[in-house]
Amino acid sequence: MSNIEQTLSIIKPDAVERNLDGQIKEMFSINGFTIVQEKKIQIEKQEAEKFYKVHETKPFYDDLCTYLSSGPIVVMILEKENAILANRELMGSTNPKDAAEGTIRKKFGISIDKNSVHGSDSAENAKIEIDFFFKS
Ligand code: CMP
Repeated sequence: MSNIEQTLSIIKPDAVERNLDGQIKEMFSINGFTIVQEKKIQIEKQEAEKFYKVHETKPFYDDLCTYLSSGPIVVMILEKENAILANRELMGSTNPKDAAEGTIRKKFGISIDKNSVHGSDSAENAKIEIDFFFKS
């Protein structure tokens, strides 16, 4: 049975700043994802705090929110069969040092903070995150 899903992807400030958004979008395309919607925006720190609320108790929360709001980002709805897992595989491990060859974070990530991309980690969060950026 087919299981077409949508997931939220963010190209983070470190990658947009280095003009890597075109190459990253191409990797999505080559790997069979359709970019259903996309926009380039810069968010306020308060919005980043809402977006990353699941991490609010973590020691890295404040830096993470400062970082996500530090420059332009590209937010996208990606669609594909089993898109949530497929995107996580294509991104690679959170820490680029641990990411497998051929993954976005291995190729472009600088550090665990500047890891170039974010992707939803579950169907439930994909819906919440897509609504966060794209619900009118
Ligand atoms: P992301 O997938 O956007 O989700 C939360 C982000 O927190 C993660 O990518 C990392 O960039 C960042 N982060 C910083 N420190 C850590 C850490 N120790 N563990 C997990 N994520 C971290």
